[in-house]
Amino acid sequence: MTETAIPPVKTLPDAQTVTEVTHWTDRLFSFRVTRPQTLRFRSGEFVMIGLLDDNGKPLLRAYSIASPNWDEELEFYSIKVPDGPLTSRLQHIKVGDEIILRPKPVGTLVHDALLPGKRVWFLATGTGIAPFASLMRDPETYEKFDEVVMMHTCRTVEELEYGRQLVENLINDPLIGEMVDGKLKYYPTTTREEFHHMGRITDNLESGKVFEDLGIAPMDREHDRAMVCGSLAFNKDVMKVLEGFGLREGANSEPREYVVEKAFVGDGI
Ligand code: FAD
Ligand code: A2P
Repeated sequence: MTETAIPPVKTLPDAQTVTEVTHWTDRLFSFRVTRPQTLRFRSGEFVMIGLLDDNGKPLLRAYSIASPNWDEELEFYSIKVPDGPLTSRLQHIKVGDEIILRPKPVGTLVHDALLPGKRVWFLATGTGIAPFASLMRDPETYEKFDEVVMMHTCRTVEELEYGRQLVENLINDPLIGEMVDGKLKYYPTTTREEFHHMGRITDNLESGKVFEDLGIAPMDREHDRAMVCGSLAFNKDVMKVLEGFGLREGANSEPREYVVEKAFVGDGI
């Protein structure tokens, strides 16, 4: 007698279920998934997420958790790279689908890596706003700092929309809105489309325009702290500017005045 083996039901390892998907532009989308009950993370950290490839092997990439650590679900904000191994597929996920999520959060954009200060600067381009979407919604940010400046720069206005809505909802949030009110200063700019504030973050810091526009004193080592997340070129250039103001790079093991993380690994890097 021949036995026919019943193929095992394919379930993803570390599977989480998609609960919401929002497409912001043809290059950007965000989504929410269930949170593993045991997952603890510090706002600003990233995890590995992904899907199975055609051979049934996990195809994983680093993603900043965009939701705060008190949220019941996890949120991610993603690029759509047309030929990208992961995002060419991930962009098609729907509510009810499963993704892989390795529950081992790590990262440098965390409060523990900064010395206490008066004001914290969140400096991001593109999807680099994701870790700050978490940190801006974390009460600890407002307990630790009197002022929080979110500078986000994209090429076009529509690319700023995820961040804009997030800040607007935050200010009206019953849980954290009162803490945020007056403390959070949002400074979005574009570089390739007309907008009320324009220019690269590096230029607006170096020229002093952002200090003038916000009516605040220029950065200094005693009062200011910064977290940076963008392309490698952006990070390098911002680091130079921050060092020019006297700030020094810190780490989890050695907290100082600023910390940096890549928003993605670029071509040839
Ligand atoms: P890949 O083969 O990984 O990338 C192909 C090319 O696309 C890259 O060489 C680069 O030129 C470009 N690219 C990749 N990611 C981006 C991006 N985010 N913005 C602009 N260009 C990009 N990506 C997110 O979308 N959201 C996040 O929160 C996020 N967090 C990250 C955190 C860390 C610490 C690191 C190292 C990367 C992070 N990334 C994030 C990038 C992510 O890991 C993947 O590279 C991205 O999802 C594309 O995957 P892919 O397989 O489709 O293409
Ligand atoms: P710009 O339009 O002047 O290049 P990208 O879409 O290429 O990832 O860029 C996202 C945003 O980051 C754009 O507004 C871009 O400005 C800006 N940017 C890119 N590289 C740098 C850099 N080295 N320093 C400061 N801003 C940068």
